[in-house]
Amino acid sequence: MIQDLLNRPLRDLRISVTDRCNFRCNYCMPEDVFGLKYKFMDRGKILSFEEILSLAKLGAELGVTKIRLTGGEPLLRADVVKLIKMLAGIPEIQDLALTTNGYFLEKKAESLKKAGLQRLTISLDTLDANLFKKLAGKHLNLAQVLRGIKAAQDVGFSPIKINTVIRKGVNEDEILKLLRFSNESNLIIRFIEYMDVGNLNGWEPQDVFSANEILDIIKKEFAVTAMDKNYKGEVAERYSITGGGEFGIIASVSQPFCGGCSRARLSADGYLFTCLFGNAGVDIKTDMRNGASDKELLNKLRNIWQNRSDQYSEKRSPNFSKQTKPKVEMYHIGG
Ligand code: GTP
Ligand code: 5AD
Ligand code: SF4
Ligand code: SF4
Repeated sequence: MIQDLLNRPLRDLRISVTDRCNFRCNYCMPEDVFGLKYKFMDRGKILSFEEILSLAKLGAELGVTKIRLTGGEPLLRADVVKLIKMLAGIPEIQDLALTTNGYFLEKKAESLKKAGLQRLTISLDTLDANLFKKLAGKHLNLAQVLRGIKAAQDVGFSPIKINTVIRKGVNEDEILKLLRFSNESNLIIRFIEYMDVGNLNGWEPQDVFSANEILDIIKKEFAVTAMDKNYKGEVAERYSITGGGEFGIIASVSQPFCGGCSRARLSADGYLFTCLFGNAGVDIKTDMRNGASDKELLNKLRNIWQNRSDQYSEKRSPNFSKQTKPKVEMYHIGG
């Protein structure tokens, strides 16, 4: 096991398998920037499955026990099911999860399950079909995401988590609807404070709808009891509600959790980032393609982690003022 400069181990490797997405969430891939002519990563620049597998195995040697596949939209990567089968065969990996927008789950849930995927998290910011189009793209149908969630449940994914980003003045009215829906459907919803990731979404401090504000809304309808974390470093605060359902709040702006951060992120083009708010990652792919041995790569990864001191969210100024330094975009490293 290795530790960074703040004694945090490396446990969680999040692998982005593509920068492409069929959604245009306005806080991630605003349509005016990511139009039809937008140039995504060239195929040749993207890590092959063999390269991803090698890096995941090296991560496991350094202490990684959890892998989460992300994107863009990971189900857009051709044959991703094959990659899951490969990663599921790494003995040290106890938790293999994937975050998706849900659009292709109706077709893919069964093969994902069969391949050995253990957990699914689905992003969903509203239950209003018109607002959904406004937030994620007018070509999209909310019903298809809902069918995707159902399909994933039908093939046995449990518990499925829902990730909901709440923005002030945009979708706070959806909180109770989404919570009731999740509760009735046996899903664990996590409300996420809107973060200043990337440089494209025009984030302003006043757009944040805070954990306390979220709780105040929920408490109007439900009795809420705080629960212990499932594991050290879990990003969500967990709560149970009347009747036994569970929800979470991810308060990375108002109550940052860098102290327990054991997450590394690998971009689809093979850069390693040690923080979601990193500016440039470290190029691993070029070394691999130039023939670096496993031992050399292992040393490189170990060095990166051991010299890490990231604490972006905790160091963010107390009034959450905007940072001007360029930051990596969410669709590039998957959240
Ligand atoms: P579980 O394993 O189910 O607990 O989930 P997870 O920790 O893998 O969380 P998930 O990927 O679903 O994260 C949910 C959201 O929390 C992400 O989309 C981000 O918005 C936020 N988040 C996750 N990790 C970090 C982090 O390291 N830093 C910050 N600031 N936010 C994070
Ligand atoms: N703040 C908080 N969460 C975000 N996500 C994307 N951008 C942001 C942001 N600025 C979430 C998505 C998805 C996950 C990958 O990250 O909604 O659930
Ligand atoms: Fe939305 Fe996720 Fe696609 Fe970004 S990567 S546009 S958050 S679905
Ligand atoms: Fe980890 Fe960076 Fe998020 Fe802090 S802001 S929890 S260091 S990824």
